[in-house]
Amino acid sequence: MRTRLENLAGIALVETEVASAAFLAGPAMDQAACLSNAFLDMEGGKIVALGPMASLKDGQFPEQVRRIDGTGRWAFPAFVDSHTHMVFAKERSEEFEMRMRGATYAEIAAAGGGILNSAAALASRSEDELLEDLLRRLTQARSTGTAVVEIKSGYGLSLETELKMLRVIQRAKSLTRMPLFATFLGAHAVPKRHQGQREAYFNEVLTEMLPAVAAESLADFVDIFCEENYFTPTELTQLADAALALGLPLKAHVNQFTSTGGLQASIASKALSVDHLEVMSDTDLADLVQAWSTGNGPMPVALPGCSLFLDIPYTPGRRIIDAGLPLAIASDFNPGSAPSSNLLTAWSLACHQMKLTPMEGLVGLTLNGASALQASDRFGSIAIGKEAHVCLTKPIERLASIPYRFGEQLIERTFVSGQ
Ligand code: NIG
Ligand code: FE
Repeated sequence: MRTRLENLAGIALVETEVASAAFLAGPAMDQAACLSNAFLDMEGGKIVALGPMASLKDGQFPEQVRRIDGTGRWAFPAFVDSHTHMVFAKERSEEFEMRMRGATYAEIAAAGGGILNSAAALASRSEDELLEDLLRRLTQARSTGTAVVEIKSGYGLSLETELKMLRVIQRAKSLTRMPLFATFLGAHAVPKRHQGQREAYFNEVLTEMLPAVAAESLADFVDIFCEENYFTPTELTQLADAALALGLPLKAHVNQFTSTGGLQASIASKALSVDHLEVMSDTDLADLVQAWSTGNGPMPVALPGCSLFLDIPYTPGRRIIDAGLPLAIASDFNPGSAPSSNLLTAWSLACHQMKLTPMEGLVGLTLNGASALQASDRFGSIAIGKEAHVCLTKPIERLASIPYRFGEQLIERTFVSGQ
């Protein structure tokens, strides 16, 4: 049955030529098209019609249309969260308290906390328990406008536990209508049993875990935490090459705390996205611009919730867009550095802290996020033929009211595949 949102104050990020752009970059991000006083039809999981209310003729109100009044409300593409660590065993709020008493993230990690804390907790949880928690978190994310979620492993750090995490994501895929993407992040930290033997562990990731993950088709992408005391740009290159040979594109954690060459290695390895980028030198930005000047570089992904929570710099999103590049925005939802899936908060932070316009923020959270998952042909904008993942807001004065009214829950419904 067809569902029609009618009398909408507006629809944002409309593509009139069917799914014309894979992403928007530079000034085009702020110029995404909107329709005012509009309707939007969804049927069979897809967006099937949209236009000004005035264009609706009498015969277009067949009885089998379920009509939803959108007076005073906006519709826009539901958020695409292209970077999360949503499978985890428990909070790390005790580490948060330690930090509020002066300890740093690096100090806590060096003392065996951090990612290793999450790995220890995850080892003792069953697949069923982890799945139940994941499904609850997905429902929570949907309540704040998210329809599509990428989820990483990386709290297992052994063959069996990494596979366990990926199986949880795979089971969730069949239990929710929300499109989910799985990323193998075995190279997230060196586990306790390999302390001081990073190379031995990395070798295990490369030669045992990655082939096993690929053999069971448990991942859509591969990721690595390229950072001082974690993994090196050389290892990033090795992993990217091996993954690509198995048909798995690389999404990389780079430049979160230090600039170590991970960005350049990602560019050379044809990574799909470069995520974090809180610490960018002028050379880093110039190299990214150069990569984009010769075709599609990796999608830069900003994670403003992580910057807020760890009190580290924000990704220079304004500079990235002003340099003519695209920018995606995601939550990084995880128990250690970004314990929130709320992309309404990320939208506000993108504006208030990264100085993006509301429309640039929305494009980053939707179409460009979809592009960071190689899926902008499926969703990320309002276009006929795309999957009907659509947010309907509560009554608001303007679209910009949403990031403006930080901390408020202004989503009335999140449609996933038209439901
Ligand atoms: O994206 N930086 C690496 N990984 C996560 C944090 C992991 C954790 O603290 O549990 C991130 O910030
Ligand atoms: Fe992350």
